[in-house]
Amino acid sequence: MPLRSRRSCLAVPGSNPRFLEKARGLDADQVFLDLEDAVAPLAKADARRNVVDALTEGGWGDTVRVVRVNDWTTQWTYQDVAEVVGKAGADLDCVMLPKVQSADHVVALDLLLSQVEKASGLEVGRLGIEAQIEDALGLTNIDAIATASPRLESLIFGPADFMASINMKSLVVGEQPPGYDVGDAYHYILMRILMAARSSGRQAIDGPYLQVRDVESFRRVAGRSAALGFDGKWVLHPDQVAAANEVYSPSQGDYDHAENILDAYEYHTSEAGGRKGSVMLGDEMIDEASRKMALVVVAKGRAAGMTRADVWEPHGG
Ligand code: GLV
Ligand code: MG
Repeated sequence: MPLRSRRSCLAVPGSNPRFLEKARGLDADQVFLDLEDAVAPLAKADARRNVVDALTEGGWGDTVRVVRVNDWTTQWTYQDVAEVVGKAGADLDCVMLPKVQSADHVVALDLLLSQVEKASGLEVGRLGIEAQIEDALGLTNIDAIATASPRLESLIFGPADFMASINMKSLVVGEQPPGYDVGDAYHYILMRILMAARSSGRQAIDGPYLQVRDVESFRRVAGRSAALGFDGKWVLHPDQVAAANEVYSPSQGDYDHAENILDAYEYHTSEAGGRKGSVMLGDEMIDEASRKMALVVVAKGRAAGMTRADVWEPHGG
C-alpha cells in the first residue's frame, strides 16, 4: 500500500454543504467528511446525502478522501457504510471508525465493507480503515486493533472523548490538565499509540486542537507529537492546515540530508565505493542504522512532495 501523506487531516461536518464546498480549496493532505459527532442525530440522514454528493461531484485532487461513520454502539453505522460506500465508494479512499474498543470493531467494519464493495461492483479490499482510539479500553486493546485487518491504515488519538472517558480534570482539549505540572499528561497515550502503529506498520495520527484561533498554540501542541514521530494531526480550521503541513514535514535541511545519507551509503557499500559498512558523510559517520533513520525522513518528505535542494555526489569514492 502506498504511504499516504496525512500531515493535515481536515474535519468537515457532513451536515454543512457550505463547509463541504469550502474544504475542496484547502491544502489539507486528507479530508474527512464527518457523519459522527459534528452531526446532530436529527441531521444524520441528510448528512449522508451531502457526503455522497460531495464525493461524487469530485474536485478533491490528490486529497485522501475519508468518511467518518458513527460508532458500532449507535443505530447508524451500517446505514452510513451502506449508503456512502454503496453510492460513492469509487470516490472514497478510507472509512474512519470512531470509538474503537476492540479488534472486533475493526473486523466488523472490514466484513461490512467487503459486502458493500461486492454488492456495488467495487474492488474488494481497496478501501482502507482508520481507527480512532478514544477510551481506556481501546488503548488497552490497541495492539490487537492495529493488526485486526489488512485494511487498517492509521491509529488516531481522539483526545476529547479520551479525556472524558478517563475523567481527566480538564475541558481544554490538547492542553495540560491544571494541577499536573510534572510533564506531559498525554505522553503515555501518545507513545502507546505510536508503538502500536510502528510495530504494525500503520500511521499514527494526533487528534484535534480545539482553540482554532490560536495557531501558535496549535503549533506548540502539534510539535510535541511530531517530535515523537506522529505522521499528522487533525485540523479544524484553514489556519491550522498550513501549520500542520509544516510541523509534520521534515525540514528542507533534514530532507536533503536524509536523501544524501541514502545516496552516500548506497555508493560506499557498493563494489565501486569499496564495499564499506560504515563511512563518513562530511563530518558524520553513517552506517546501516543511519540508513534506516534516513529512510523514514525520505518517505515522509517524498510523500509530502518535497524535492531536493542539495544533491550529494561521490568525489571519486
Ligand atoms: C475526536 O473524535 C475526539 O474525541 O477528540
Ligand atoms: Mg471523538
